[in-house]
Amino acid sequence: MKYSFNAVALVALIGSAQAALRFGCSTVTIQRLDPVVEPGGLPSAHLHQVVGGNAFSPTMSGDIGEQGTCTSCVFSEDFSNYWTAVLFFKHQNGTYKRVPIMANDALPAGINGGMTIYYTQQDFNSNGKQFIRTFPPGFRMTVGSPTQGADGMTKHKGLRFTCLDNKSTRFPEIDDFPKKPCKGGIMTEHHFPACWDGVNLDSPDHQSHMYDTQPTGFAAGAACPKSHPVRMPQLAYETLWDTAQFKDMWPKDGSNPFVFSYGNQSGHAYGTHADYMFGWKGDSLQRAMNSSCMFNACENGKPLKSQSVAAMNACKAKDVVKENHDGWLTALPGMT
Ligand SMILES: *[C@@H]1O[C@H](CO)[C@@H](O)[C@H](O)[C@H]1NC(C)=O
Ligand SMILES: *[C@@H]1O[C@H](CO)[C@@H](O)[C@H](O)[C@H]1NC(C)=O
Ligand SMILES: *[C@@H]1O[C@H](CO)[C@@H](O)[C@H](O)[C@H]1NC(C)=O
Ligand SMILES: *[C@@H]1O[C@H](CO)[C@@H](O)[C@H](O)[C@H]1NC(C)=O
Repeated sequence: MKYSFNAVALVALIGSAQAALRFGCSTVTIQRLDPVVEPGGLPSAHLHQVVGGNAFSPTMSGDIGEQGTCTSCVFSEDFSNYWTAVLFFKHQNGTYKRVPIMANDALPAGINGGMTIYYTQQDFNSNGKQFIRTFPPGFRMTVGSPTQGADGMTKHKGLRFTCLDNKSTRFPEIDDFPKKPCKGGIMTEHHFPACWDGVNLDSPDHQSHMYDTQPTGFAAGAACPKSHPVRMPQLAYETLWDTAQFKDMWPKDGSNPFVFSYGNQSGHAYGTHADYMFGWKGDSLQRAMNSSCMFNACENGKPLKSQSVAAMNACKAKDVVKENHDGWLTALPGMT
C-alpha cells in the first residue's frame, strides 16, 4: 500500500471508494504441492505455504468453489487457493529453519499465519469508473518465476519486499531481500496482473493469458491492451515473515541468510512468485465487486458472508506429502 497521498486527497478518494476487499486467511497447509505448475506432482519440486479452501491437493480442475468443505479465509464463500514459496533461514553451520509466518496487524487478532489478500479495482482507495469482471470458474494464474533473475523484478513491478520496523511499516518497497536484519520481520508482496485475454482460463506458462499495466503495487493501471481487453480485480498478497527471531544469527560477513524454498542460493530473492486458483462460490465475488463496500465493511452479509477467526484457523487441507519441514533441516525440502 502507498501512503504518498496527503490527507485531503485521502478524504476525497475515500468518498468515491467502492468494493475493495482486504481480508485475512490463515494457513490452510504448508506442503510440497502445486496443482497449477506441477499438476499431479506428489510431491512438487519445492515447498509452498497455502491459504484458502481445504480441497487443495496435487490435482485440481473444474469449479474449485464447489470443492472442499471449508476455507481458511474470512469470507466463507471464498474457496480459492492462494500460495507462495516458503522462506527459510540458512544458518552458517549449513542447516535451514523455516521462517514462521505472522498475521498482519490490519486484521483481526488470532489468525494463524497465512496471508492478507486484496482484490482492488482502481487502486488502493478507489474503484474508479470502469466495470470490473471477476474471474470465471476454472481460472488460474501465476506471477513471477523461481528461475527469473533481476530482470524479472523489472518486468513484474508488483513483486516487492519491505523491511519491517513493525507490522505497520509499508515503505520503502525494494526488489530484493533487505541487506540487514529487520526489527519487525520482512513482508513479501505479490501483485498480479489485472488484464485478461477474455478467453483462456490458463495458458502454458500460466501467465500469458494476463497482462500487467500497473506502474507499481496498489496504483492505478493504464488501460488494458486490445490483446487483453478485460479488466479484472487487482489481486495482491502480503505475507509477513518473522525473520526477527534470527537477528542474532546474521552471518558475520554480512551476507543475506534467507533463502526461498525453491533453493536459489545466490542470496537474491528475484525468483519470488505466487499462484492463484479462483474458487469463489457462484457470483459472490462479482456481487462484491459490484457493491460499494470497503475492506471489513464487506463482511457479515454486506454483501459477503464471513466467519470467525476460530473457524478460519480450524480449516486445514489434508497432508498428503507427510514431510517434516520444521526444526533445523540439513537440506531444503525436495533439495537433497
Ligand atoms: C546449527 O545451529 C543451530 C542454531 O544454533 C543449532 O540448533 C543446530 O544444532 C546447529 N546444527 C549443526 C549441524 O551444527
Ligand atoms: C539464481 O538467482 C540468480 C540471481 O538472480 C540468477 O542469476 C540465477 O539464474 C538463478 N538460478 C537459477 C537456477 O534459477
Ligand atoms: C512503525 O514503523 C513506522 C516506520 O516504519 C513508524 O512510522 C511507526 O510510527 C511505527 N509504529 C509503531 C506503532 O511503532
Ligand atoms: C454486476 O454488474 C453488472 C453490470 O452492471 C451486471 O450485468 C451483473 O449482473 C452484476 N452481477 C452481480 C452478481 O450483481
